[in-house]
Amino acid sequence: MKDTYGRNIRYLRVSVTDRCNLRCMYCMPEEGVCKKTHPDMLSLEEIYQIIEASAEMGFDKIRITGGEPLVRKNIEWLVKKTAELEGIKDIAMTTNGILLAEYAEKLKDAGLNRVNISLDTLDVEKFREITRGGDIERVLEGIKAALNHGLTPIKINTVLIGGFNDDEIEDLAELTLNHDIHVRFIELMPIGHAADWSKEKFIPNETVLERLENLIPLENEDGSPARTYKMPGAKGTIGLINPISQHFCNTCNRLRLTADGKLKPCLHSDKEIDVKKGLGDKEEIKKIIVDTIEMKPKAHHINDKDYKPITRDMNNIGG
Ligand code: GTP
Ligand code: 5AD
Ligand code: SF4
Repeated sequence: MKDTYGRNIRYLRVSVTDRCNLRCMYCMPEEGVCKKTHPDMLSLEEIYQIIEASAEMGFDKIRITGGEPLVRKNIEWLVKKTAELEGIKDIAMTTNGILLAEYAEKLKDAGLNRVNISLDTLDVEKFREITRGGDIERVLEGIKAALNHGLTPIKINTVLIGGFNDDEIEDLAELTLNHDIHVRFIELMPIGHAADWSKEKFIPNETVLERLENLIPLENEDGSPARTYKMPGAKGTIGLINPISQHFCNTCNRLRLTADGKLKPCLHSDKEIDVKKGLGDKEEIKKIIVDTIEMKPKAHHINDKDYKPITRDMNNIGG
């Protein structure tokens, strides 16, 4: 379905939990999130109702996110049901990779096409620091398992943080030389815990272009926010996701569903519509989806002088 600005909205990002088995410093509060079951969290069956309605409206790309989606019990059921829907062309997951070695085969069997894995550093100690205690070995095992089970193409998401990992651009890029792995550098966005980080931590993606010589520009993948390049002779690609320096709002094709049942027209807006009131009535859910699409703004306003960061944390939205 087209929105007010002529964009074809067909990509639903579904956050299935706000919990996570890591606590990345830019994403989660130090104490983590409440472990108790929130009464307002959608069940997997309710999430499926919303995905099913969206598929009937022409959505053809579904991404399962979190928090960390693999901490949600029985997530493979949702993947399987989604894969069976007519019209769905791409089911992907964004994960931190910690549980991926355990889940890769099950997810592939359920019908998941591919995974994007968040990895901000290749250094054991720096990984422990940024994730507040995570073990990078498990992520590396997860990447191998995903490759072995064909959850491909595999994309690595690296949020560039000044003074933390901007010295690793070359090392991360080198992962693409011999492996069919796509590394994407993401500009740090002022959301949640990163909202009050100092300006020096923000690294424009232009820096990657300056540091990696001879990058060959490629066609951008349809519907993806990344600008794509390749190192000469490399198997994989380098992607630049520039939400700040060169936003991609004019090609935005997505809505977001939060784990507590709100549809969001834009990552950077506090506007949202409660979809719970439509549960059990597919036509009502479709109306709410139409209303959300009609609320999509032309672009975000992060670069405005009086911009106020949104109130939800990233673990609540799923990126
Ligand atoms: P592909 O379909 O594989 O291209 O994935 P994706 O880039 O759509 O999803 P992923 O979850 O890997 O997101 C990568 C990064 O892009 C995250 O930091 C997201 O927050 C950011 N991102 C994704 N969609 C949007 C968007 O609509 N607006 C902004 N500003 N950032 C986005
Ligand atoms: N800015 C940019 N990217 C972010 N992510 C989480 N918080 C931010 C932020 N403030 C990324 C994660 C993950 C993706 C879904 O969103 O690293 O890869
Ligand atoms: Fe967890 Fe992802 Fe947030 Fe890190 S960025 S704490 S891995 S939800």
